[in-house]
Amino acid sequence: MRTASPAQPFTPAGVTPAGVTPPGSAAPSLGVPSLAAQYQRYFPIGAAVEPETLDSQGDLLAAQVSSLVAENAMKWEMIHPRAGNGPDSYDFTDADAIVDFARARGMKVRGHNLVWHKQVPGWVFKGQDGPATQTELLSRLQAHISSLLAHFRDRVYCWDVVNEALAERTGQWRTDSPWQRIAGSGSAAPGIPAYIEKAFEYARAADPTVRLFYNDYGIETGAKHEKAMSVVQALAGKGLVDGVGIQGHWSVFGPEPETVRRAIRGFASLGVEVQVTELDLSLYRWGDTSVLPEPRPDLLAEQAGRYASYFRVFREEAEAYRLTGVTFWGIADDHTWLDDFPVKGRKDWPLLFDIHHRPKDAFWKAAQW
Ligand code: G3I
Repeated sequence: MRTASPAQPFTPAGVTPAGVTPPGSAAPSLGVPSLAAQYQRYFPIGAAVEPETLDSQGDLLAAQVSSLVAENAMKWEMIHPRAGNGPDSYDFTDADAIVDFARARGMKVRGHNLVWHKQVPGWVFKGQDGPATQTELLSRLQAHISSLLAHFRDRVYCWDVVNEALAERTGQWRTDSPWQRIAGSGSAAPGIPAYIEKAFEYARAADPTVRLFYNDYGIETGAKHEKAMSVVQALAGKGLVDGVGIQGHWSVFGPEPETVRRAIRGFASLGVEVQVTELDLSLYRWGDTSVLPEPRPDLLAEQAGRYASYFRVFREEAEAYRLTGVTFWGIADDHTWLDDFPVKGRKDWPLLFDIHHRPKDAFWKAAQW
């Protein structure tokens, strides 16, 4: 049984309120170090959660992470399912359960997300006799953002304001986004769709104390990276954005760690924070629809090596003040979105803990160096 390496000397990143168990200090299971404690001098370690995983994975989360994000509970279809802007239009129950769990353990909370082309209820895009007009849609967006930021004020420290506005290969604006279709024109910022500029303006006006992020996947390199850089630069020039979320839905086949480092440095050069916001390493190549009956040992070994290399880059970039957070999209292989993508019901094993919440080699490679 490996023994934990001596905890890294660290300076407490934040003050934990009296009577609250500091994040990462809940007794991790015997001999297993706390990732949050090991990384406290670098950045918060986060995980995406659902209300049910607060129960099924609660001990592991309390021992291992210092930040949470709602995997789905803060998305429009979950938190604002009914038309209108009155209290009956919203349902904060699940999101508040996640925020309460985090705050009772001194954890931070990332907000995800305010604008996305997915998981938005149909009423948002409907008008009197057909699609909503741009004015109607932007008015609903402003009400939604103002309500959420008011509700979570001082409890959520940053928001993924706009999520995945760029098309996959071309790096152009998504054509499958009703936001782009209905409210993509007329921005004051050259080359920025109106709904993106307005979403950040509304969020900034609603709560100037919260950090505002643009969040996307596949922006480490190529056309999407270039386009994301120009979007963030334009928004930063108007004081509207504070950070970039590089999602990190990667695999054991890539991207190369040095590609990730270059992307972090590129976005940081714009004067904004950079975070990895949805990290997981699939055992399948992107788009591979084959099925593994169980996790192949060679792929798990490759996964452990990849996590070691990525976390080396993360530590080095954090030491240069270019990376301020790493959030996993889950914490253990018993709950991952990749069990339904790209093949519904196909098992994947992308995280640091196995389906029984035992640390994998990947955990030891990330937690000890
Ligand atoms: O809530 C319904 C439930 O009532 C119903 O019984 C059930 C039937 O399948 O579906 C439930 O909704 C599911 C929802 O997750 C909540 O569990 C949707 O079908 C399912 O599609 C949805 O998947 C989420 C996906 O976003 C939606 O695109 C994943 O859990 C979530 O991990 C994933 O997260 C996204 C990030 O927000 C943005 N970046 C990419 C990442 C992975 O796609």
